[in-house]
This record gives sequence, structure tokens and C-alpha cells, in this order.
Amino acid sequence: MNHKPMKGIVLAGGLGTRLRPLTRITNKHLLPVYDKPMIFYPIQTLVDAGIRDVLVVTGGNNAGDFLRLIGNGKDFGLDHMNYAYQEGEGGIAQALGLAEPFAKGHRIIVILGDNVIEKGIAAGIARFNRQTEGALVYLKKMKDPRPYGVPVFKDGRIIRIEEKPKTPRSSFAVIGVYMYDATVFDLIRNLKPSGRGELEVTDLNNAYLERGQLHHQILDGWWADAGESHEGLLEANLIVARTLRRKNARD
Ligand code: DAU
Repeated sequence: MNHKPMKGIVLAGGLGTRLRPLTRITNKHLLPVYDKPMIFYPIQTLVDAGIRDVLVVTGGNNAGDFLRLIGNGKDFGLDHMNYAYQEGEGGIAQALGLAEPFAKGHRIIVILGDNVIEKGIAAGIARFNRQTEGALVYLKKMKDPRPYGVPVFKDGRIIRIEEKPKTPRSSFAVIGVYMYDATVFDLIRNLKPSGRGELEVTDLNNAYLERGQLHHQILDGWWADAGESHEGLLEANLIVARTLRRKNARD
């Protein structure tokens, strides 16, 4: 399949209320995860996957600090970085909608600014490159998937994704790494706010499912949702530290 190069988007808006008081005077994605600010991880994941054109969508507290911290992306070997600003906290899909002028008809990889993964996303990209259209989500098996989007399966295929279900219908979480074709912005325009007043990424993925165009890939290696709770932030710090220690002991 001959596709134009994919563009990368990191979503780092929102108020991070679940991490208060840590987020009272700074932005959640600037908090440390071991030796780096949280947002460095998703940007690095995109760059490691060969993405050169990256947009950071920010908002909430101290949005200007992203510019001071990331600048033109020199820490990642980039010479240019793109920024967009989300007013308010209208949800993940609303934040993504702001990326339309940046995407310019290219297919996109979206990573949530609080998601940290151990290994790369090359397998998902290879699979997505074989698709002519649609979307791809990454799944990870969890002991307790209740805080996440949870897929419902029938005959090995996802038939629906439920957001933060009280009674999960599978033991998988849909993690915060998504790949979309250029029709994603039309689908976002048709979304309605959920009960919590947000345009939900789960509704967006369900819209692709209704068209029979949502594929999935199981994530290899660990995944941490550093913004989920104080416990999630601590876990992310510990798992990154342990992984680095192991790596340093080997080198
Ligand atoms: O981490 C994976 C989970 O992320 C998925 O399993 C869920 O399906 C998905 O809804 C999401 O759930 P969370 O409750 O973890 O989302 P949260 O509100 O923490 O937002 C995650 C990131 O998205 C956040 O770090 C920044 C970005 N975001 C969020 C909102 C609400 C924005 O850029 N703007 C927003 O308005």
C-alpha cells in the first residue's frame, strides 16, 4: 500500500483533576516520571516509530511551559514542533479535532500524553499500513480493566468498546495509542458529548466499529497510564526506574 507518511499527535490537554494537588499549579504532563517529564515518553514513542512531524495539543494549567520545555523538539532529534491549544476540557476527541489543519489529509497516530509504553509501536504501524482505511487500537491484558475503555469480543472480533464499565466484558484495556485514517475528523464532527460532557475517544472508535473498520493489535511489553491516579503515577515511575536499572546492568 502506498500511503503518505503518517503524522503524530500527542494529546496533553485536560486539567488532571485526579492528580490534585500535584496538578494545582502545573500541568499533569509536566510531572516527572522517573528521570523525565511525562510528556517526553509519548513524544519519544512517536519519534522512535519514525514519525518526524509531531503536534502537541495542550491546554489547562501552564500551557506555555510546554513551549519552554519542548521547544523545537531538539531533545528528540527534531528541528520543528507543532502546538495547538485546547480551551476547556471537552474530551480526548475534542482535543484531537484541533489537529485537523495539521493532519492535512495524512493518516495519524495519536498518543495520550499520560501513556508510557515499554516497547515500540512498529507492529501496529505495519498492520495499519496494510489497511486501506479505518482505524487501529492497541489492547493490553489487565488484572482490572475497569478504569479504561474495554472491548467486548464476539468470535475473536471487537463488536463494541465500553468506557470504564463497572462490569468489564473482557480483561483487555484499550490503551491510549490510536491510528486513524483521514476520515477521523468527519467522525469527530458527528460525536455527541457523553454523560460526563466530553467527546469520548471510545465513541470515536465505536463509530469506526460501526463501519466495520476498527482493527486491533495486542501491545508487547508493559503499559502505564501515569495520569490515571496517584497510584498510577507511582507505578509508572517504578516501572520506568526498574526497566532502566535492568538495562544499565546489562550495558
Ligand atoms: O489511558 C487509556 C485510557 O484513556 C483509555 O482506556 C480510555 O478509553 C480513554 O477514555 C482514556 O481514559 P482516561 O480517563 O485515562 O482519560 P483522561 O481524561 O485521563 O485523558 C487522557 C489524556 O487525554 C490526558 O492525559 C490528556 C488528554 N486529554 C484529555 C481530556 C479529557 C486532552 O487532551 N483533552 C481533554 O479534554
